Amino acid sequence: MIRSALMNVMTAAVLKAGRGLKRDFGEVENLQVSMKGPGDFVSAADRKAERILFEELTRARPGYGFLMEEGGAVEGTDKSHRWIIDPLDGTTNFLHGLPVFAISLALEREGQLVAGVVYNPATDDMFVAEKGQGAYQNNRRLRVAARSSLSETLIGCGVPHLGKAEHHPQFKAELAAVMAHVGNVRRMGAAALDLAMVAAGRLDGYWERQLQPWDIAAGIVLLREAGGYISDMAGGDDMMGTGSLCCGNEAIQRQLLALLKKA
Ligand code: IPD
Ligand code: CA
Ligand code: CA
Repeated sequence: MIRSALMNVMTAAVLKAGRGLKRDFGEVENLQVSMKGPGDFVSAADRKAERILFEELTRARPGYGFLMEEGGAVEGTDKSHRWIIDPLDGTTNFLHGLPVFAISLALEREGQLVAGVVYNPATDDMFVAEKGQGAYQNNRRLRVAARSSLSETLIGCGVPHLGKAEHHPQFKAELAAVMAHVGNVRRMGAAALDLAMVAAGRLDGYWERQLQPWDIAAGIVLLREAGGYISDMAGGDDMMGTGSLCCGNEAIQRQLLALLKKA
């Protein structure tokens, strides 16, 4: 486990926000959601978690800036540090009572991602990583899987939802290209956890497009610190800017990207 002051601040903040999310998830599971309907209930849970993260992190590190999914960008007086936050990644799962969702919290220093925490309050799984210090799940050191032959791999992906149907043709072409060569494919529904699963060696690789910086910032640190390779879909390293990514161990990332580029 990483016992730095920064990690203590980050894990304390996600644990506090996670307690509220876990309670709210229990309500969704029991279908005791308010008359406003489950959608409104979930977005209230989402905003509440983000507010807790904002308050806790501001108290611990006054002056740092923020980029948050719900609240947008908040400039800090300290121009070299910025928190990047998705208070609830995997909203659709949360809404359907599937316990596959997480808080994603990353820290950027001078424009570089230096720390990431992904926490699933439903399972109490805490994934942490700090640049140069490795990646851990609870107390276990993480390492990407060693498989190098595509036919043995389990590969994660993201399916564009109905509201993004214009992206379906491209996704179908990519899925077909990947399915023809890998063992099988999974769609978990929370990008931060997909990246954590590759870091933990449970998924061998993962690709997705149309993502936002807060979906992937923390997961990118986890993946790299677990020895993984990641690029954007053009093979560059602008995952945060393009919202596209392809990752795995060195061999799988390279082969997966080649398949996707041909699709
Ligand atoms: C979504 C999840 C999902 C991905 C979507 C994201 P949200 O985030 O990460 O896995 O496929 O593109 O928007 O909306 O649940 O925070
Ligand atoms: Ca998200
Ligand atoms: Ca979200």
